[in-house]
Order: sequence, then C-alpha cells, then structure tokens
Amino acid sequence: MKKVLIATVKPFAPAAINQMKNLLDKAGYKMILLEKYPDKKALIEAVKNVDALIVRSDKIDAEVFEQAPNLKIVVRAGAGYDNIDLKAATNNKTVVMNTPGQNANAVAELVLGMMVLMARNQFNGTPGTELKGKTIGIHAYGNVGKNVARIAKGFDMNVVAHDPYVSSEIVERDGIKDYENVEDMYKNAQYVSLHIPATPQTIKSINYELLKQMPDNAVLINTARKEIIDEDGLLQLMAERPDFKYISDIAPDKRDEFETRFADRIFFTPKKMGAQTAEANINAGVAAVNQIVNFFENNDQTYKLN
Ligand code: 3PG
Repeated sequence: MKKVLIATVKPFAPAAINQMKNLLDKAGYKMILLEKYPDKKALIEAVKNVDALIVRSDKIDAEVFEQAPNLKIVVRAGAGYDNIDLKAATNNKTVVMNTPGQNANAVAELVLGMMVLMARNQFNGTPGTELKGKTIGIHAYGNVGKNVARIAKGFDMNVVAHDPYVSSEIVERDGIKDYENVEDMYKNAQYVSLHIPATPQTIKSINYELLKQMPDNAVLINTARKEIIDEDGLLQLMAERPDFKYISDIAPDKRDEFETRFADRIFFTPKKMGAQTAEANINAGVAAVNQIVNFFENNDQTYKLN
C-alpha cells in the first residue's frame, strides 16, 4: 500500500483534507497527516517510509530528501516551488511537481481586497479614493496575473502588463496593453501587482530605481515572495515619497522598520493568506492527490519540475 504524507505547517481546510482522503482511499493509498508540525525533526521523522509527499510552503531540502529513501514524488500544492531543493530531489530520484493555477483566483481576490483596504485609508474614516479609472500594472502575466487582470477590469480599472515570457499577442488578446520594457510599465501604472517567482534573477529585482518610476500616489502590491523586493531600496523610496504605499501578503524581513516609519502607508497580512481559502485548498489539494495517483498508476509526469 502506497503511503502519502501530507505535511503542512499551515494546514489545509478540513473540507480539502476530506476530499483528499476520499480520493486516496479510492486509489487504495494510505494518507498520513502531519499538520502544524513543530520543527524539521518532526518532518524528517515522518518522511522516512513514505512514497509520496504533499506540501505547501514547507521547506524540503537535501536533509529531508536524504532521510526519505522511498520518496518517489513530492507535490507542492500551489504554484511557487522555491521551498523545494530540486537538485537534491533529483539526486534522490524523486520527481517534484506543483499544481499551477489551482490557487490563482484566491490570490487575485486578495490583491483587489487589499487594494480597496488601502484606497479607503484602511477604513480609518477619512475620505479615500476609488479604483475605477486607475491603471494597474501586472508584473508577470501568469495564472495569478490573469485573474488579477480579470477582476480589476470589473472595477473598471485600466489594465496593463509586463511579462518577458508571455508574447504581446497573448496579453493583447485579453484587451491589455503589453509593455515590453519593464520600466515603461512602472512609469504608467499607479498600482503595480507583483506575480514573479523568487529566482536568482528576480531576487531583489524590485528595487529603488524601478519603483521610483511609478507615478504619484503609487501603490505596490506583493502577493508573490518577499525575496523579490530590495527592502532597503523600498524603505529609501518611501522616505523620499510620502505618497508611496506598500501592501504585502508576505511581511518583509524589516517589518518593524516599515511599521515604525510608515504605519499608515503599509499593510501586511498577519500570515500569508493569498491561497488560504477553502476553494483554493480543495483545488490544490485534490490536484496534488490526482497527480500522485496518476504518476504511480500511469507514469503521468505532467507538471514535473526537475
Ligand atoms: C503559492 O506559491 O502557491 C502561494 O504562494 C501559496 O502558498 P501557500 O500554499 O504556502 O499558502
């Protein structure tokens, strides 16, 4: 009987776990649940005999793989896989997959929700502004970016985008102006929503030089990764530009400094909340289970990352 470990510091919704268990039962696989585990030691203990692993942002590094000789597949139930050491996985002969798109709508709804919160001065009773007629720049037109664009259009916003990996034709087919040059997009968008992964190329790429291009009353929204921001550059810019606001679903390393210096111009969710909806948990969790079953039963390697 194949053993599938679900190891999540941040648990899935109970409805998602129920559906995942039903699917695993049907396939004749055993589900092992390790939620809110206290430390890496607990994870290492749990992976020892399992054939498959489902995680969220949980860090799966070489040390974990070394302790998991039977582990054939890890599925990151979500999009970003910067938490998984792909090289160590390959060395261990473990296939790594993600479940792209499954939580995209949840993240996109949070983007617009946080934008309304900031546009209304965090509901402090003073007159705010509306989103209608303002321009939002989508930095990377992938699954989340596309959903942000769709919802922003519902607010009657003007939507523009930049993505070096997506052709202008695809972006413009959705009625969105595509900027080939990233700086041009920043120059023309009062709101910029970040949807780039954290890679060696993108880490700290959202920096002072880029952000200073943004027009008056600029708002930067980050539901991607904290690592892509050059925090010192952003702090410097916010000191120079009292009109500049920053909203993030992933608190920066220098959270205290942002909060002390710019309290009314920042908003950070207390915990990463983008993918935290029952629907997203069900979508990503069920997709992860289906991918595992299909991998073992049909050698289906769709969404393989390594
Ligand atoms: C993702 O990469 O899918 C999102 O950042 C969600 O991450 P989470 O599963 O840890 O909430």
